[in-house]
Order: sequence, then C-alpha cells, then structure tokens
Amino acid sequence: MSDPGGAAGTVSAEAIAAARAALARALRVVVFTGAGVSAESGVPTFRGAGGLWKTFKPEDLASPVAFGRDPRLVWEWYGWRREMVGRCRPNAAHLALARWMLGRAGVTLVSQNVDDLHERAAREAAGGVEAARRAEPVRLHGSLFHDRCTRCACRSEARGALDTTGIATLPHCPECGGLLRPDVVWFGEMLPARSVEAAFAAAGEAEACLVIGTTGAVYPAAGVVHTAKSAGAQVVIVDPGRTEYEDLADVRLVGPAGEIVPRIVG
Ligand code: APR
Repeated sequence: MSDPGGAAGTVSAEAIAAARAALARALRVVVFTGAGVSAESGVPTFRGAGGLWKTFKPEDLASPVAFGRDPRLVWEWYGWRREMVGRCRPNAAHLALARWMLGRAGVTLVSQNVDDLHERAAREAAGGVEAARRAEPVRLHGSLFHDRCTRCACRSEARGALDTTGIATLPHCPECGGLLRPDVVWFGEMLPARSVEAAFAAAGEAEACLVIGTTGAVYPAAGVVHTAKSAGAQVVIVDPGRTEYEDLADVRLVGPAGEIVPRIVG
C-alpha cells in the first residue's frame, strides 16, 4: 500500500501518482461514495463528529416503524434535511468526478448519498440534463428530493412547502391520495433491486475501485467494495478517518475529498 501521509496537504506525490495510475490504466472503474464526499458542501455525515446519528436516533426517524408511529415527526426531520441540503452546493470533489466521467468511458458511480449533489454536479459539468446522464450515480439509498406513495408506491419529485401541522396537511399522492413518504431507504428496508444489480455488476467487472468518504459500515451497500476487490480491482481510498476497508486498500489517501479527488481524476 502506498504511503498514506497525514492531512491533505501532506498526501505524498507518490501516493497521488499511484492513485492516478491505477485509475488511468483501468478500462472499467467503480466509484463508491458516502456522506464524506459531501461534508465539505456542509452536509453532515452520519457517524463522524457532528454526524446525524450523534444527535438523532435512526430508530425514531429513519425506519418504517418510526414513520408508522409518527409520520409528522419523520416528515419534520426530512423537511429540515431537505432545506439544509437544498442550500448546499456540489464541491470540488463532486465536480471533478462529474467532469472525469463526462471525459472518459467505463466509470460507474455508485452512491449511498441521498443529497442529489452528484446529480447537480453532473448537470453543472455537462451544461444540461440529458448530457448529464452519463455522470449520474446509481443511487442505492434513494433521494431526499423525491417522494414515494405508501399506498400505490408511485414516485414523484418533492413539491412545495412542507406543512407538518397535521396528518391531513402532510404530502399526499397525486395519483391515489395515499400518504407520501420520503423516497429514501430506511433501516430494515430493501434497496432498490435495479440499483443493486447495476452496482454489483459494475463492481464485479471493475479493474479499479475508488472509495470516497464512507465508513463502509452499512450493508448491503458496503459489499460493493468487497465485490470489486474480489474481482481483482485496485482499491483506492480517500478519507481523512479510518474506514472498515483499510485492509482492502492498495492506495490510501488520508485527507478531505474536496482537496484530493481533483488531484487524482482531474
Ligand atoms: N472527505 C472525505 N471523507 C470524509 C470527509 C471529507 N471531507 N469528512 C468526513 N469523511 C469521512 C469520515 O471519516 C467517514 O469515514 O466520511 C465517512 C462518513 O461515514 P458515515 O458517516 O458512516 O457515512 P456513510 O458511510 O455514508 O453511511 C452509510 O449509513 O446512515 C446510513 O443510509 C445512511 O447512506 C448512509 C449509510
């Protein structure tokens, strides 16, 4: 494994060169991101300092049981997250990844994030919705800015201000009138089958796997990196902290994504 170095400023030129070489020579790359890639945009992570799960209990807010028990409380919390994340902008890591994906073939971006910042970076880098498709992620955990009906399961883009004063004022389905819920994957729920298929197919044929800003603690998503490693991929990790993947790393870059990612894919 190449020398990890310390804070971003001290990541060695050798480690940067090793990461660039591993990514450049790979015909097929899978990029796997977590909350850390959005930390420099102001989106809190889950388990790091100031992380959401340090302040809130996932069992009270991010589970079907919690929603059944108190949909107003859950909507209040997702309303707060939507507003907060809505004010954030893609950072240098999101934009460098999007430009890189638009400039070469064979890269699949798989994200656990629900903040839409990869999507916004793709649109910004491509200059339009259609052209951005090539740089959009496979979303394993859904999206903060979409709703799903609890009765007919139809999905829709989140619309309008949220009023949590009563059950009747909460968002309801334009099709069947059923209660809507945020279209995110909650603890204990299945991941979207098509996304899982696409993510693990890409991991199974990858020659390089770039892991950015995830502890790798939540399965089945975290299995993407193990699948890539078993398929023979070179694993490059960008994270200022320790992750569950340390033993898998071929190149380990210790530091913030916003500073390191543009240096390895730019
Ligand atoms: N750049 C890169 N990585 C960073 C940065 C940064 N600027 N700041 C923090 N990190 C790293 C942390 O060191 C940590 O390893 O980001 C990681 C964030 O880990 P978690 O908070 O555990 O988030 P994540 O791995 O994405 O969580 C997985 O858990 O709660 C569920 O569904 C939720 O998708 C989420 C899943």
